[in-house]
Amino acid sequence: MDFATKAITTSEKPNLSENAPSDVISPIHLSSTFAKPNYNDTIQNFSYSRLSNPTRNNLENKLAVLENAKYAIAYASGQAAECATILGLLESNDEIICFNDIYGGTRRLLSSIFSKFNISVKYIDLTNIENITNSITSKTKAIWLESPTNPLLQICDIKKISQIAQKCNILTIVDNTFATPYLQRPLDLGADIVIHSMTKYINGHSDSIAGAVLLNDDGLYEKLRFTSNSCGMILGAFDSYLNLRGIKTLKVRMEQHCKNALEVARFLQSHKRIKQVIYPGLDSHPQHHLAKEQMNGLFGGIVSIYIDADENQMNVFAKNLDIFILAESLGGVESLFGCPYYMSHGSVDEEIKKQLNITKNLIRLSIGLEDSNDLINALNNALNTI
Ligand SMILES: Cc1ncc(COP(=O)(O)O)c(C=O)c1O
Repeated sequence: MDFATKAITTSEKPNLSENAPSDVISPIHLSSTFAKPNYNDTIQNFSYSRLSNPTRNNLENKLAVLENAKYAIAYASGQAAECATILGLLESNDEIICFNDIYGGTRRLLSSIFSKFNISVKYIDLTNIENITNSITSKTKAIWLESPTNPLLQICDIKKISQIAQKCNILTIVDNTFATPYLQRPLDLGADIVIHSMTKYINGHSDSIAGAVLLNDDGLYEKLRFTSNSCGMILGAFDSYLNLRGIKTLKVRMEQHCKNALEVARFLQSHKRIKQVIYPGLDSHPQHHLAKEQMNGLFGGIVSIYIDADENQMNVFAKNLDIFILAESLGGVESLFGCPYYMSHGSVDEEIKKQLNITKNLIRLSIGLEDSNDLINALNNALNTI
């Protein structure tokens, strides 16, 4: 079966053999607990919803199939998925090598929370493979990356990085939020762990906060399941249902997000108030060829731009931009825009933002599913007011 068929049919087959309603869609199991047949039963499929819930299980099965993974665990947020991964798989005194261009909340989690447990992080530019080999020490236990990155849409060579990591017995952890399993499957490229903020494209409708971890290794899965149950960071039944519903249309949504994004990116390249357009689908993107090889020929729904404007002019642009909503997050059907400097990367140190070129005139556009001509007109009009 191909992607869209799997997205729709996995875990959604009506059960016609039982004397019960044969739901066409997976029902929402709100029960926190499940009756035991005997007082001394210790093993049963469902006992308590923190450990296992039928609606969450259905979502996890679907996610695993789509990401080509043996296992999936759904979490209460992308941050919870990240947290569980580190708590479950790393120990005190371990070190993580992390791409310096990552979501600001991930940097905050690694640097401000896990530093308390003596887990250290080295931030490097992972687009240069040599940097990795020079940075690995006996303490390095994981390489952490996004591709495309948030917010600068840089591309990492997942295959090469995983090969280096594997030789050194180091885990490769890939946040696949921006690409989704429709555009890129890091486990197939050699990564050990995939992380998602399902809040974004997987759910796709800006009405649920959710995360997931996907993997193939039995031992790592057992550690993660144990951690997730012990710490209780799991996804509730209603959000599992929302994500199950959202993921069914992932293919058609991603096709349209990507088509619109490419059209918007091409238009923006020609506007005199735009200093630079960053989009992996443009020939001008420094890693366009790698993105072409590593992704499925589509390049995502995010376009980042540097506007030729001072802070006052940026304010005028933001006030005059129609259709796009100024809001955190991305990946929903509606177009959003944000200034990473103040928003997604607001918690990142000034000095680091300077090094990375996360400036006040950088705007991240999450291109939605509206008609692209309307999005282009809206951007053109707002840019022409400054
Ligand atoms: C790439 C990436 N990873 C992880 C997260 C965190 O996910 P959540 O907001 O679902 O906790 C985000 C949030 O913006 C993100 O952009």
